[in-house]
Amino acid sequence: MDGVPVRPGRILTDVSRPAPAALTSWLEALECPHCHHPLRSRERTLHCPSGHSFDLARAGYVSLLTGAPATSGDDDAMARAREGFLATGAYAPLRAAIGDLAPHTAGRVLDIGGGTGYYLAGLLDELPQARGLGVDTSVRALRFAARAHQRAAAAAWDVFTRFPLADGAADLVLNVFAPRNPSEFARVLAPGGHLLVVRPTTDHLTELRDAVPGMVGLDPRKEERLHEALDPLFTTEEVREVRFPLAVSAAAARDLVAMTPSARHVAPETLEALPDGTVTVSVLVSLHRRR
Ligand SMILES: C[S@@+](CC[C@H](N)C(=O)[O-])C[C@H]1O[C@@H](n2cnc3c(N)ncnc32)[C@H](O)[C@@H]1O
Repeated sequence: MDGVPVRPGRILTDVSRPAPAALTSWLEALECPHCHHPLRSRERTLHCPSGHSFDLARAGYVSLLTGAPATSGDDDAMARAREGFLATGAYAPLRAAIGDLAPHTAGRVLDIGGGTGYYLAGLLDELPQARGLGVDTSVRALRFAARAHQRAAAAAWDVFTRFPLADGAADLVLNVFAPRNPSEFARVLAPGGHLLVVRPTTDHLTELRDAVPGMVGLDPRKEERLHEALDPLFTTEEVREVRFPLAVSAAAARDLVAMTPSARHVAPETLEALPDGTVTVSVLVSLHRRR
């Protein structure tokens, strides 16, 4: 993707403010992405005994990227459109379903490809004893995520690399419309820990796909490929469809398109011409237990 992922050295830091408590609460679990030694906090920097250091952004997140730009990530416009759309409450039923399915005993929740932190924040409201860490590569999304909830920290790393986290550091991994790394999910989950995955069915937003030429279609084999990847490592405990008709204003419809990679293939005139209407929301929410 040609987004604006975080690059080391681009972070604006502010030494006068302490590291957020939500982030320091994850320090014991975090590892240096270069040498896997434990990280310690000093002012606005996390550092390891080998001398690698990682500045905290003024916005409150830490980048644990190692040098190469991330392989993918949302750009500024996509993250803003997502924040705007989710703020309308249109996906509240989905957030509620996640809260319903998630094990309420989970104390440490990792949200991979967490975007603006909307679903993690909703889940933390349901789990008063839990703390969360949202991971993403998009600068704008991380800025939103770092302030999404008092008990949620935010960090940048690439889901397709080894996670800078100790084995068994999380009780629940959330993965909502986001890229996956099943072997790393299994490694960082504690024994008996859970993975909660949300993905669209082929009916999801079908009216928008029909109306907007250039909107990326959904792979009909997606579900099969998900199970091929997860089944060796996880037992599926529950799968639930969340499906409802959603009335969308023209502005919300524009945000729905603009928050996806399809936005890059859609002419601005097409977006501007979208009318108010109704779209089908159809997603699967599933809970998997680490074998
Ligand atoms: C479709 S959005 C979903 C965001 C959030 N889970 C939600 O549903 O609101 C996918 C997210 O994955 C992030 N992402 C894409 N590639 C990534 C990568 N290689 N590593 C980490 N995050 C990535 C994007 O920046 C984006 O925020």
